[in-house]
Amino acid sequence: MCGIIGYKGPENASEIIFTGLKRLEYRGYDSWGIAAKKDRGLFSLKRAEKLGEFEGKLPETHTAIGHSRWATHGGVSERNAHPHLSCDGNIAVVHNGIIENYQELRKYLMSKGHLFSSDTDTEVIAHLIEDYAKAHPFRESVLKAIEHLRGSYAIVAIKADEDEVIGARKDSPLVVGIGDGECFLASDVPAFIDHTKKVVFLGDEEMAVLNNGAEFYDVVTGKEIEKEATEVEWDAEQASKGEFEHYMIKEISEQKDSLLRAVAHEDKTLMDIADQINNAFGVFFVACGSSYHAALTASYIFSKITKKHINVVYASEFPYYEDFLTERTLMIPISQSGETADVMAAVKTAKKKGTKILSIVNVMGSSLMRASHSCLLMNSGPEIGVLSTKTYTSQVALLTMLAYACVGKLKEGKELVRKAAEAAEELTSAESRIKIVELASKLHKEEHMFSIGRGVSYPTALEAALKVKEVAYVNCLGFCGGEAKHGSIALVYDGMPCLVFSPSDETKADILSNAMELKARGAYIIGVSPENNETFDCHIKVPDVGDGNAIVDIIPVQLFSYYLAKLRGCDPDKPKHLAKAVTVR
Ligand code: M6R
Repeated sequence: MCGIIGYKGPENASEIIFTGLKRLEYRGYDSWGIAAKKDRGLFSLKRAEKLGEFEGKLPETHTAIGHSRWATHGGVSERNAHPHLSCDGNIAVVHNGIIENYQELRKYLMSKGHLFSSDTDTEVIAHLIEDYAKAHPFRESVLKAIEHLRGSYAIVAIKADEDEVIGARKDSPLVVGIGDGECFLASDVPAFIDHTKKVVFLGDEEMAVLNNGAEFYDVVTGKEIEKEATEVEWDAEQASKGEFEHYMIKEISEQKDSLLRAVAHEDKTLMDIADQINNAFGVFFVACGSSYHAALTASYIFSKITKKHINVVYASEFPYYEDFLTERTLMIPISQSGETADVMAAVKTAKKKGTKILSIVNVMGSSLMRASHSCLLMNSGPEIGVLSTKTYTSQVALLTMLAYACVGKLKEGKELVRKAAEAAEELTSAESRIKIVELASKLHKEEHMFSIGRGVSYPTALEAALKVKEVAYVNCLGFCGGEAKHGSIALVYDGMPCLVFSPSDETKADILSNAMELKARGAYIIGVSPENNETFDCHIKVPDVGDGNAIVDIIPVQLFSYYLAKLRGCDPDKPKHLAKAVTVR
């Protein structure tokens, strides 16, 4: 869950790395570091602070690597920040992933006289390369070092007396950017999108060597391989904050466009997927976090529209269902990043059983996309803020359209999402925000909240609770309205805020009764609903888009969480302990 980057070319590499790291900060931001070729040695700098706090100067150089960290092995400190160096300081390595056998490698290397200066798993890689470099050229030393590694890695390495920047990966992402006389290596495309849109997605156990251009190798055989470059559709503007203060608010505001991009998927593509769903014997939606909530939402929509039961399973729990899998099962992993380790592990389990994998992913070339038999790209555009916002609504929209496609009503499904896109525009307008800001100002000192819904709004309530928790650090408990009386109602106190999702559907009467039960015990009821009701102490009006309500009802709460976070002094783009791509299990 770290961001790594490397550059080789005529421009000032330090500046390119520093700017690229800012774009990768969403992957981890507890510390950072840079190593660069300077004169005949390596310059290295590490900081246990946010990149934005750095006021120093970096050297002018043409070859450099960088890292933005989300700590796994070893606490957050300067000594554990990357890059990690060999004993002689001539080799520098940045790494994303986990080296499972680092303890035994460390012992082995120490017995050979290597001195360690961090508590990380990564440092063994620098020393292993150093060990081989005594008798082998740099790229061969990297290949030989990699042979020892168990676990996951994306690495970028440089050596003081070599011109090459070397990158390799297994189970962690790494992409190569091919520019005009310059090359990049990075965990994700936004890191270098200002410079080039031409990318090569490295496969598992592949290595890239950047010098004058890029060469590619198979890590297992050591042989050179041909790789095709792809042009990415994203542009620099999409990947930058522009006039917005944070990525989170930018991405919330982009939902009209991202939903219209979902509608723009070709009918044939969606109908082919619908056929696969209709012909499968058992369908599993598998996901984590917000993507799981999108999947759960869709299971209600599938039930209503297609009369079909869809199994919805947390990816981390999925391996325990392996006995249900057959060759006729269809697994649909849903993931914004396409890198979530729990999802990847679930896919591995399913593949062993011969199950078909059809993924729904936003990031092109991601590990999940490559591991699937087929893939529906979400086309939401880059989502850099750590919180899923526009990708969540795109997932719900795509799955809703698929449900309609399954019963031959794709046109109707698309119309619904088009209406939801219009509603998203209204809900994110400056006028709509005034009320949300007022509510956040009123409630920003509260430490506890409830969030309830029923039926298709139950997952919306879960997603709302997750948004409030993860960005504003308010303990918001999400559950289905009917469950309050079975225990959670005991927590209600006078003035406790409670979000109530009450669309004009079959859940309305029941959820309003549940809200009344909480109100009777002192709860402050915030109704998210097309119409006001006497139960509500505060009414957040949302347009009525029928079966598309699950797409739009979350939007006011995304905004509420954002403003709440700001008022509570939390950084909306860098929630503590979180990272955008969760590549550990
Ligand atoms: O990239 P994915 O969709 O697989 O990510 C799944 C979760 O890690 C993600 O949704 C997480 O819960 C976010 N923090 C939600 O805002």
